[in-house]
Amino acid sequence: MVELYLLVLTGWPSDGKTNIAKMLRDFGFEYLSTDAVRRKLYPGKAPLDIPYPEGWEPIWDEIRMRRDVTLLSGRNVVIDSCAQNNYIRDKFFSLDLETKLSLKAKGAHLHKYLIKLCVNDDVRLQRELARGRNLDDMLKIIDAMKSDYQDPANYKFEDVLFLEYPNNTFDDQAKILEHIKSLCGCSSRNIWNKYISVKKRKKSYAGKIVVSGEDHRANLEQIIKPHINKSTVMLDEGCGIADHLLLYSMGAKKIYGIDTCTELILEARKSVANRPEIEIMWMDINDLEFDNNTFDIITNVFAPQTKKSCEEVYRTLKKGGLYVRVTGAGEFVEYNGKLLKRPQDIIGRGMFIDKMPKQILTEETHQVKSAGFSFVKVNEFQGIKIFKTMEDAISYLR
Ligand SMILES: C[S@@+](CC[C@H](N)C(=O)[O-])C[C@H]1O[C@@H](n2cnc3c(N)ncnc32)[C@H](O)[C@@H]1O
Repeated sequence: MVELYLLVLTGWPSDGKTNIAKMLRDFGFEYLSTDAVRRKLYPGKAPLDIPYPEGWEPIWDEIRMRRDVTLLSGRNVVIDSCAQNNYIRDKFFSLDLETKLSLKAKGAHLHKYLIKLCVNDDVRLQRELARGRNLDDMLKIIDAMKSDYQDPANYKFEDVLFLEYPNNTFDDQAKILEHIKSLCGCSSRNIWNKYISVKKRKKSYAGKIVVSGEDHRANLEQIIKPHINKSTVMLDEGCGIADHLLLYSMGAKKIYGIDTCTELILEARKSVANRPEIEIMWMDINDLEFDNNTFDIITNVFAPQTKKSCEEVYRTLKKGGLYVRVTGAGEFVEYNGKLLKRPQDIIGRGMFIDKMPKQILTEETHQVKSAGFSFVKVNEFQGIKIFKTMEDAISYLR
């Protein structure tokens, strides 16, 4: 029998749910955040601007979908949400028949916990102030939630168990985490504790490289390998099925691959099954759920790059860290006697639509520099040289 755990954290904003959820992530839990999904589905919108409940239904549906995908791949889930009433809690705990049957067929037993985390009003207020949040807005959000609040202690749904930690202060979080871990049978083996290993440093970076061109496999290895050692922590953005990641990450301590395509995430998890130091997660590159100064190396190979994603890279890279971006420079290429003028003619990628040669490189280099990177190096390669024929290149790249 495989023991699986579905934890739903409940509490008001600033009750410390996210901290606990992120710490559980280091013990193999998939961390699903309603805030992150909300920001993705409604960019720029404040929570109170989203009609309740109809505007929130797609957020809860997305969380449910990711929950099922994760549980079916045999991993535990922690959902970080205020979950202030039973309607929302039911969303997170109810599984459709197909998922239930699939879990049963895999011999999995699902344990469900509703976990209330709490701090007193003073601590909550201090946390809000420390985060620079507008207190009036926060009080409005809490008031809106209170209008249909239901005490989680009275929540009754199938076999959901209720736990309450009334004092989720930073001092007590380690104990709370230990308690939750012991309930879920988390082993302390293979722990990567970023809270100890990552020290805050002054923000001044050096050694950033933007790589351009299609002949990237060999070059990536050449560029990245010398920077990898036993303590290296890496992130690959838009990892897809993780084929590149597998190639150039060997020897690092911990590697995260992130993507927003669930099917690819499942494929990627299969291909990294024998590399326990690699973790593949659902995450948007524009909204990295990692602490500042976490990574030694961040790679982005043919995923989109935006102004925001560069700012996130800058925030999460350590001092002196390395960001390697592989993109299409879009040279003019002659093929079958025809001059292919635009990158999209050659590699047919969505991100190159309507871009002219060199435009991508100029724009992306500008994004990287505006994010604050001090040393940007651009290498250009002729990717088509590594393919025997143009057909090979086209089919590979498509
Ligand atoms: C062209 S593929 C590249 C995959 C892989 N890096 C490789 O080189 O084989 C682009 C990937 O970026 C992912 N992606 C697109 N937008 C994303 C976003 N906002 N956050 C994370 N991943 C994203 C896609 O799902 C896709 O897997």
